[in-house]
Amino acid sequence: MGWTTHECDVLVIGAGGAGLRAAVEASAQGASVTVLSKSLLGKAHTVMAEGGMAASMGHVDDRDNWRVHFSDTMRGGYYLNNWRMAELHAREAPDRVRELEAWGALFDRTKDGRILQRNFGGHKYPRLAHVGDRTGLEMIRTLQDHGIHQGIEFLMENTVVRLLKDGDRVSGAFAYDREKGRFHVVHAKAVVLATGGIGRAFRITSNSWEYTGDGHALALHAGAELVDMEFVQFHPTGMVWPLSVRGILVTEGVRGEGGILTNSEGRRFMFDDIPELYAGQCADTPEEGWRYVTGDKDSRRPPELLTRDHVARKIVKEVKEGRGSPHGGAFLNIAWIRENMKDSEAHIKKKLPSMYHQFKELAGVDITKEPMEVGPTTHYVMGGVKVDADTQMSSVPGLFACGECGGGLHGANRLGGNSLSDLLVFGRIAGAAAAKFASDQGDTSLDEAQAQDVEAIALAPMERRDGENPYEIQHDLQDVMQDLVGIARAEAELAEALEKIKDLRTRADTVCAPGNREYNPGWHTALDLANLLDVSEAVALAALGRPESRGAHTRIDHPDKDPELGKVNTIIGHSASGAIEARHEPVVGRTEALQEIIEEMG
Ligand code: FUM
Repeated sequence: MGWTTHECDVLVIGAGGAGLRAAVEASAQGASVTVLSKSLLGKAHTVMAEGGMAASMGHVDDRDNWRVHFSDTMRGGYYLNNWRMAELHAREAPDRVRELEAWGALFDRTKDGRILQRNFGGHKYPRLAHVGDRTGLEMIRTLQDHGIHQGIEFLMENTVVRLLKDGDRVSGAFAYDREKGRFHVVHAKAVVLATGGIGRAFRITSNSWEYTGDGHALALHAGAELVDMEFVQFHPTGMVWPLSVRGILVTEGVRGEGGILTNSEGRRFMFDDIPELYAGQCADTPEEGWRYVTGDKDSRRPPELLTRDHVARKIVKEVKEGRGSPHGGAFLNIAWIRENMKDSEAHIKKKLPSMYHQFKELAGVDITKEPMEVGPTTHYVMGGVKVDADTQMSSVPGLFACGECGGGLHGANRLGGNSLSDLLVFGRIAGAAAAKFASDQGDTSLDEAQAQDVEAIALAPMERRDGENPYEIQHDLQDVMQDLVGIARAEAELAEALEKIKDLRTRADTVCAPGNREYNPGWHTALDLANLLDVSEAVALAALGRPESRGAHTRIDHPDKDPELGKVNTIIGHSASGAIEARHEPVVGRTEALQEIIEEMG
């Protein structure tokens, strides 16, 4: 046998915020837990949620409560959210933030010593508990320390090739370690997927190399379904220059601290077109916008803090119409606050330390004095594994998913800051439910023939003597997704993308990664490619099947919302023949009580 076998009750795949929170909870419930992560512990896309975690603690504005948060999340998601998940998230987020603080997270404080909360897009009140612009990092640090002290076993720099099954039930995973290329089988009673997103399917992204849709693809192969895959979030502000750093995130916290967007004519174009849904909540003039920065309770919000889908589309429009910045973006200016604030330079450095260094070091721009150039970057996928809201279990017994690779909470568009609270709320729920499942259902049996089949799949690219270079296929796929399945979509282009993905699959079948198993990144890319192709096809297929524009999904050939499509989610599954298929199902979790909250909030 060519692998080492590990035994545990609960296997958690992924060590970002959701994976770590799930592991901590499963361990606290008495389960033996192994966490398997693709990179070194501490490196996760969670750290790219810089500006804060949304929780209605009401420390800055006491009008806030879970009902307002729930209503904002539903409106942001255009009511395609799983209603029950949105309810659980809004209700439980404040406790999860306080718990993180009790475990050692050091948040910024209000003058009277409570956790400080800042404004973010689509949130009615200042709601984001934050640590400057390094909130995700603080969260990972805290969870990691906590997990290590609970005796959780970590297998770092391991990638899973396939999940293993015992009949219908999941029984573990087959993985390889990226350093030496050795195989590992983790035999488990329950598995939690927390692998993050799919950003590397696109050319311009805030995601680093790990985010190749692994959890989404593993779940599909194991027989689970995906939901809402057409909804991919393009964060409005990524770096655009220099080219080598294009896509790196510029936190929404810049706008939360008063940053404004202007075009090449110096005009604040976000005032041009305020969506009906937010009329009355938005400042009408730039002068009014300033009052908001000062924390005036009655002030309305500047339009730079409308939801991400809207802001991203507005930047693209300015660029298309010839009013973009020199490198094809818009200007984001926080330096302007010096007109109204004596110690603005110190303030910016204190509230946005990472942004200050990022622009100084990577672009030679001093953000306390000059504007930044920014444009949309692929940041997050709202779609993920279809799960039960109260347990996070998929349709495969024993297989759970949470965080970005779990679907449902965010509907058609996620509000900034809702991801960190999502990770904590649903990481905890998944960990608890997985531990309970493991204890109630007991052992699984390990099928060695299955593991041998996966071993053969994993070795195939290395055993081929000639064939295509995996990097070339990955680059071609990123071009297809960026150019044909990006911010603005149309039927003909989506159909063309699906054809091209089919061709890329044929090319990927003969991909070749010569060399040996040690330190072979070409081999790793060849294996990641299969996942990228699966998730890309899922996104394009779901987008083709939704002829309307809603949230992060814009169809230029169908610019309006279709009321009937506003009642359904897209479900992606494998047919009996193994093809990827899409269908629609009614939105879940709606109750009269929740509907009343939406109506009450207007
Ligand atoms: O802009 C940001 O800091 C990102 C936050 C998020 O994606 O939630």
